[in-house]
Amino acid sequence: MDQAFSTRAVHAGRGDFIEKGVHAPPLDLSTTYPTPDLELAARSFDSLVAGDEPQGGSFVYQRLFNPTTDRFERALAELEGAEDAAAFSSGMAALSAVLLAAKSRGAHVVAVRPMYGTADHLLTSRLLGLGVTWTTQDDIADAIRPDTALVVIETPANPTLNLIDIASVVRQAGAVPVLVDSTFATPVLQQPLALGAALVLHSATKFLGGHGDVLAGVVAGSHTMVRDIKHVRAATGGLLHPLSSYLLHRGLPTLQLRVERAQATAGDLAARLAADSRVASVRFPGLPGQDPRTLIGRQMLGPGSILAFELASDDPQVMRNFVGALQLITPAVSLGSTDTLIQPPAALTHRVVDQHARQDAGISQGLLRMSVGLEDARDLWRDLDRALATVPSHAVTTERIPALAG
Ligand SMILES: Cc1ncc(COP(=O)(O)O)c(C=O)c1O
Repeated sequence: MDQAFSTRAVHAGRGDFIEKGVHAPPLDLSTTYPTPDLELAARSFDSLVAGDEPQGGSFVYQRLFNPTTDRFERALAELEGAEDAAAFSSGMAALSAVLLAAKSRGAHVVAVRPMYGTADHLLTSRLLGLGVTWTTQDDIADAIRPDTALVVIETPANPTLNLIDIASVVRQAGAVPVLVDSTFATPVLQQPLALGAALVLHSATKFLGGHGDVLAGVVAGSHTMVRDIKHVRAATGGLLHPLSSYLLHRGLPTLQLRVERAQATAGDLAARLAADSRVASVRFPGLPGQDPRTLIGRQMLGPGSILAFELASDDPQVMRNFVGALQLITPAVSLGSTDTLIQPPAALTHRVVDQHARQDAGISQGLLRMSVGLEDARDLWRDLDRALATVPSHAVTTERIPALAG
């Protein structure tokens, strides 16, 4: 554990390569595995169905276990300082399995808005039979009930970039486990388990995949908690496909480089946007006054590479013209890819969130979320500057995003 993150990211999940005589992770696409010894296979089956390790003899069936996925899980667990991890076919599949596993402790969840729109929808809609109390990061203790199974937070939050003090939430939650969606931070910038969280979750579709070609989710934590989650996964399906696991594992050695480069560019663009009269407001935790709890440095190594902003006019046509004038930046949902992506959360990713809740959380109709990629900062600014020329100069600059509540 005394090696630097970058060193561990290069070698995690690869410790047996010399013994195996390979230099890249073996990719095993088998959906079924021979079971020549029925007794051994049955023992392995029982173990895997319960979410435990294979027992030798056979992996039996891909939904129960896949060695390429297992290898990525072990690598990710190491980078999060976790005992184990479970990989899923999407971030939402991972969250669903966490919630279903939590149900054995109670049917109530405490959560803080905003968070990714579909995660909000999954909790609010009671689709999985769990009730939710939405609260603020300072009122967690009051929201906990005897049947509360889990506290769910996302920091930095999608799409407003609010930061939540993980250690404070853990203290308030007491015996109730805290799940942190750390997708925006990645293990490079934030280590929630070291701050007392029970589980850390990523939409691996984003920075972990990093190239816009893998849909995946992963959750890491203690052996016991991950075992329960794997139990749910074995029964409901949702194991990550081994080719996706291979690609995720392949990307880990460059994760820190990608995150740090995009973060530096995002800082540059955020400062330029904040100083521009054609922009009404910018949300980026690295800007002065936007980290009132001084979590950057303490909880996060840096602000990340996602930012959000409002144009100086809230006329929807002005926003459409602005996005339409971009030539380099792609209008698209998702984030954490090599290329820069922009989208209006109220109209797309967060349209499934109750309208009033959305407004209360600062997700205005005119808010644009931008995921900064690996292009040169000057080229990105040229693209933004060109598109900002479509914003009428008579537009009134107003502070529309509610002031940070801290
Ligand atoms: C913060 C966050 N968590 C979870 C998810 C869901 O992940 P997926 O799209 O991989 O299901 C997303 C997707 O955008 C996200 O941004």
